[in-house]
Amino acid sequence: MEGARGGMRGGEVTMRHIKPPIVDTRDLPVLVDENKPEGKKSMREIQGWMGQESLKWLANKAKTMRSIVEVGSWKGRSTQTLLENCPGTVFAVDHFLGSEDERTSTHKEATERDIFLEFWENVGHYKNLVAMRMSSVKAASFFRPGSVDMVFIDGCHNKENVQADLIAWVSIAKVLVCGHDLGQIQGAAKEIGYTLRDDGGGIWVL
Ligand SMILES: C[S@@+](CC[C@H](N)C(=O)[O-])C[C@H]1O[C@@H](n2cnc3c(N)ncnc32)[C@H](O)[C@@H]1O
Repeated sequence: MEGARGGMRGGEVTMRHIKPPIVDTRDLPVLVDENKPEGKKSMREIQGWMGQESLKWLANKAKTMRSIVEVGSWKGRSTQTLLENCPGTVFAVDHFLGSEDERTSTHKEATERDIFLEFWENVGHYKNLVAMRMSSVKAASFFRPGSVDMVFIDGCHNKENVQADLIAWVSIAKVLVCGHDLGQIQGAAKEIGYTLRDDGGGIWVL
């Protein structure tokens, strides 16, 4: 079956669920697609790299945010937690190609099949999801400064991408910029003047 804004058709994924550049949530307390069929799936175990402590941290933060951008969703492990807990829209940004320097290791799967299909199977039923299948910097260009409450960054961890992500997204968050894998990214962040605070479990906040 195909949902109101897209989904599977004859094995092919249509991209109609991706909203065009409308993204300014400042005046929209809750942006949900009321036409999307009610999700029937409950929370599930999704492969990814965030531990329970970090997911709990994310859940608590998400409850207090009216809109969230996640950069780096993979199969939807952290996305699911954000979607379950945020009363407003969660924009999931990922090109689903795997991180540049992990395509022969941890993200090799992304070179063998379309990870987006697994992401969509896992979390595509949430009414408050807007999937943005594109690069992080491209996605950021659709948002105005201060237009989302929280930006959670868990994309590519090499220096070039860490710095590009911070430069692209910091001004877009109104309340909180945070992310995962502090140890891997704090040097690159420091180089461009951002001191990230350790909030436990690999979580960082700006
Ligand atoms: C560490 S994984 C995300 C893990 C996920 N948050 C979880 O809980 O399992 C990093 C993701 O970022 C995506 N990614 C890497 N660089 C990107 C970029 N420049 N633009 C968009 N997505 C990117 C990869 O495709 C990958 O899915």
